[in-house]
Amino acid sequence: MRIDIITIFPEMIKPMFNESIMKRAVLQNLIEINVIDLRDYSVLKHNKVDDTPYGGGAGMVLQFPPFYLALKNLRNEQTHVMLTSPRGKTFNQQRAIELQQKQHIIILCGHYEGIDERVHDMVDEEVSIGDYVLTGGELAAMVITDALARLQDGVIKKDSYEQDSFHMGLLEHPHYTKPFSYEGKEVPEVLTSGNHKEIDRWRRYQSLKQTFLKRPDLLNGFPLDKEDIKMLEEIKKESNIKE
Ligand SMILES: C[S@@+](CC[C@H](N)C(=O)[O-])C[C@H]1O[C@@H](n2cnc3c(N)ncnc32)[C@H](O)[C@@H]1O
Repeated sequence: MRIDIITIFPEMIKPMFNESIMKRAVLQNLIEINVIDLRDYSVLKHNKVDDTPYGGGAGMVLQFPPFYLALKNLRNEQTHVMLTSPRGKTFNQQRAIELQQKQHIIILCGHYEGIDERVHDMVDEEVSIGDYVLTGGELAAMVITDALARLQDGVIKKDSYEQDSFHMGLLEHPHYTKPFSYEGKEVPEVLTSGNHKEIDRWRRYQSLKQTFLKRPDLLNGFPLDKEDIKMLEEIKKESNIKE
C-alpha cells in the first residue's frame, strides 16, 4: 500500500516514521508513505496556500487550486482520496480493515478554519477521528496511517492484530507479564497453568466481560455462540447485573 499525506506542515508528520514499528515497516518497504507539502502546489507568490474566507469571518481557509493540482498529479484510477474533517464519518477498525485492500490512498489535511468546499467535492470520503475539533488534519492523518500500516502483511503478526479490540468485534482480554507477584498483586493462576484450553476459555470470558462492562453496544448483533451466551450469563451474575 502507498499512502500520500498532503499537508502544509510535513514536519509534524515525518517523526512518526522514525520510531518503532512504523519505522521498520517503511524501511522494509512493507508500506510506502510520502508526506507531501501542499505548498509545492501553490500557484501564488511565496508558496501561499491560504486566504481569508469569502463572506468574512475569523480564520484562514486553505485554497482550492493547490489541492486540485496535487490531486491531478498524484491521483490515478485506483486511488482512494480521504479528506480529514470533523464532518466526516468516524474512522474505526472496521473501516481500517476495509481500506486495507487499497493500493493507493491520499489523505488531505486541512488547517485553520478548514478547506475550500470545492476540495470536498473532489474526494472519495470525508473522515473524522472523533467528535472534537483539532487544529489540523495532521493528527487525524497519522492516526489513520498507523491503523492501516499495522494491518499490512508483515508489519505485525496476523495473530496479534486479529486478537485486538474491535478487530473481531469484541474488546480484547487483559494481558499480564512478569513478575508473577508484586506488591500483593498476582497474575491469574490459569495463565501459568500451561493448559491452553483453559487459557483460551479464560481469555474469551475476559474479552466478553470487558466488552459487556465497558462497551455493551459492541455486543448488539455480535454472533455469540452457545458457550459465549453461557459465559455472559456467568458474567452478569458475577457483576450482579440483572437483565
Ligand atoms: C480547526 S479544523 C476546522 C474545523 C471546521 N471549521 C469545522 O468546524 O468543522 C481544521 C482542520 O483540522 C482537521 N480536523 C479537525 N478536527 C478533526 C477531526 N475530528 N477529524 C478529522 N480531522 C479533523 C480537518 O482537516 C480540518 O479541516
